[in-house]
Amino acid sequence: MEGSIHSVYIHIPFCDHICSYCDFPKVLSFSPWIERYLETLEKEIRMNYKGERIKTIYIGGGTPSVLSLEQLRKLFKIVSIFKKDTTCEFTFEGNPESLSEEKILFLKENFVNRLSIGVESFQEKLLKKMNRHHTKEEVLKIISYAKKVGFLNINVDLIYAFEEETIEDLKKDLKEFLSLEVPHISTYSLILEEHTRFYIEKRKPILEDIDFSMYQLIQQTLKDSLYEQYEISNFAKNSFFSKHNLTYWNNEYYYGFGMGASGYLKEYRYNNTKSILKYLSGAFLLNKEKMTRQSNLEYTFLLGFRKIKGISKENFFNRYHLVLEEIPIIKRLLKEKKLVDKGKFISISSEYLYVENSILLEFIGEKYE
Ligand SMILES: C[S@@+](CC[C@H](N)C(=O)[O-])C[C@H]1O[C@@H](n2cnc3c(N)ncnc32)[C@H](O)[C@@H]1O
Ligand code: SF4
Repeated sequence: MEGSIHSVYIHIPFCDHICSYCDFPKVLSFSPWIERYLETLEKEIRMNYKGERIKTIYIGGGTPSVLSLEQLRKLFKIVSIFKKDTTCEFTFEGNPESLSEEKILFLKENFVNRLSIGVESFQEKLLKKMNRHHTKEEVLKIISYAKKVGFLNINVDLIYAFEEETIEDLKKDLKEFLSLEVPHISTYSLILEEHTRFYIEKRKPILEDIDFSMYQLIQQTLKDSLYEQYEISNFAKNSFFSKHNLTYWNNEYYYGFGMGASGYLKEYRYNNTKSILKYLSGAFLLNKEKMTRQSNLEYTFLLGFRKIKGISKENFFNRYHLVLEEIPIIKRLLKEKKLVDKGKFISISSEYLYVENSILLEFIGEKYE
C-alpha cells in the first residue's frame, strides 16, 4: 500500500435538527451557508487532490441528504473532480426523513453504490429522546425504494444502551432491523459525549452488565441471521464489508475534505477545523500530526485489532519488515490469551472483544522494536 492514496472522505456538516447524543462536527442547515460551503469545498479539493485513482468515496455527515437536489447536483459536480476506479465503492450517508425518492434516484444515476442510513431505533420513545425526526414508515418506504432502483449495498445504523432501554426493547429493534433485509448493520453502544443534550441533562450510562448483555444479544442475533461480525461494531452479510472503513482499520491513507474531516496523507495525519466560519474563510486546517515509524505502528495496532480477523502477518511484514508475533507486546498479549494466533492473522480473543478498548490502550506508548 506504500505510496498510494485511494480513499476520500467528504464531510457535509448540515443537519435539520440536532440529536441529543451527537458530538459530530455539524451545524443547523442554512441555505446560504450550504452554497458557500460547496464553493469552499471545491477550493479545498482542488488545492489538495493530486489526481490519484480513487477506490472508495464516502460522503458523510452531518446529514448529506439534507442538501436539495440542486445542491446535490453542485456537490456531485465537485465529486467528479476525482478520478474514480471502475470498482469504486461510493457511499452516501443520509437520514430517512430527508432521503426522498427523487434524491435516491439521483444518487443511483450518479454512481453512488452504497447507502448508509441513520435508522437508530424503531422504538418511538427512544427516537423521541434522541430527538430523531423520522418515522418507521419513512424508513420502510425509503429502503424499499432504494432496493427497487437497484441499491444492493445498504447499511443501517443502530444505537442501543439508553438508560431507559430494556433488553426487550433491543430485541424488538433487532427484529425490525432484520426485517429490513439489508446486507450491513452498524451497531453503536450510546456514548454520553460532552457538548450534547444528554450530557447537559446529566444522563447516566446504562449499567455495564446490561450493556454487555446487549452486546452479546446483538452478536448472537445477527450471527443467527447470517451476518458476519467483521469489526467491533460492524456486521455484514455476503461479504458486503465497508471497503471505505476497512481503509481506516488497515491504517491506509485517505483524504478528508470538509469541516471537521480528518485525513492521513503518508507523512502526517490532520484534522480540519470544526468551526463553520473558519472553514468558510478558507482556514481549513485545525492540526497536523507528523507520522513517525513508531506512531505509524501504534495506529496499525489500534486500528487493525478492531477487525475481528485481526492483523495479517504477511501484510505487516511487508510494510514494516518486522515479524508480528515477535514484537514484545504481541508476545505478552498472546501469552495472556488476550490475543490469538490464527496462523496467517493475529486477532483479539473473542472473550476479550467486549473489553477491547482496554487492551488497545496497552499499545499506547509501547516500544515496538
Ligand atoms: C454522526 S452520524 C452521521 C449520520 C447521520 N447524520 C445520522 O444521523 O445517522 C453517524 C452515526 O454515528 C452514531 N453515533 C453518533 N453519535 C453517537 C453517540 N454519542 N453514541 C453512539 N453512537 C453515536 C449514530 O449511529 C449515527 O448514525
Ligand atoms: S446524529 Fe446525524 S442527524 Fe443527528 S445531529 Fe448528528 S450528524 Fe446530525
